[in-house]
Parts: sequence; structure tokens; C-alpha cells
Amino acid sequence: MKEILKTCLNADAIVLGTPIYYGSISSYAQAFLERLLFAADTYLIDEDGNRVSKIKKEVKTAMIYTMNVPKEMDYFNGEDQLAIMRGYLSAIFGECEALYAYDTKQFKQYSAYVNNMFDAEHKEESEKIQFPKDLEKAYKLGQRISG
Ligand SMILES: Cc1cc2nc3c(=O)[nH]c(=O)nc-3n(C[C@H](O)[C@H](O)[C@H](O)COP(=O)(O)O)c2cc1C
Repeated sequence: MKEILKTCLNADAIVLGTPIYYGSISSYAQAFLERLLFAADTYLIDEDGNRVSKIKKEVKTAMIYTMNVPKEMDYFNGEDQLAIMRGYLSAIFGECEALYAYDTKQFKQYSAYVNNMFDAEHKEESEKIQFPKDLEKAYKLGQRISG
């Protein structure tokens, strides 16, 4: 963990991907962010009331969220509770953007699970058509914020 934190604290940009589990980021992503933010955070505020970070340069950051639900579902009801950790990333490292990958294929074989929520054929289609587009967006995002 120390090595990973050291790398992140010296990075030009940080992109973290996480699946959405029960409406939130995974516990692994949450634990990682807590350690990362705390390694760079201080209990100082400047004259404008902004947090003073140990990081002396702007480090652009991004969160990539993958999830089962389709985009049309408006899963977060217009309210993005995921923005809380992005707010801390922005304050302590630098501007944080978000990329949402909806309708991902969770299971290789849907018929092996107790399921009537998700249509296996639709998920196959989404994996073939939408997922490569999301990968491309993620690639471009990484290029943009690191360059
Ligand atoms: C424990 C668990 C909880 C999940 N909760 C949600 C959820 O609340 N909303 C959603 O859209 N997808 C949910 N998913 C699906 C994952 O977000 C989806 O499979 C993700 O794109 C890939 O995660 P994975 O690599 O762990 O399968 C859940 C998956 C698991 C295993």
C-alpha cells in the first residue's frame, strides 16, 4: 500500500475505476480513497477557506463507475451521492471528473444465476456495442487528463 500511495502522490493524474455495489462505490475503492486522501490531506485552511493539500501541484483526477443498470433508469435520481468523494479528490488533488459505464455485463452466463431482472441477450449486445465505446471514452479521458 505504501508503494501505491507513493506512486499516486507523485502522479501527474489519477484515475480510479470501481463497480457500483448497492448504489455506491465498492468498499475497496472507498478504503483506498480514504488512505489516499488522508496521505495528502492536512488540517490547514488557507485565507480563502480552502483546504491546504500536501500536494503542491494540481493533479487531475477521475472516477470511472461501472454498473448493471441502464442509463435510462436514472439510477442516482439526478442526485449524485458519489460526488462526495469526488469533491474531496478535487479539493485535495485537483479537478475530478466522472465517467459512468452503464448496463455492463455482470455474469458470463446469466442462466446460471437466479435472475429475471436482466436479459442475457441484451447484456451480450451491450457488451459488444456499448462497452467498447465506454472503454474508448475511458482511454481518451486518461489521455486528456494526463497530457
Ligand atoms: C455485490 C454487488 C452489488 C451490486 N450492486 C449494484 C447496484 O447497486 N447497481 C448496479 O447497477 N449494479 C450493481 N452491481 C453490478 C456491478 O456494478 C457490475 O457488475 C459492475 O459493472 C462490474 O462489477 P464486477 O466486476 O464486480 O462484476 C452489483 C454487483 C455486485 C457483485
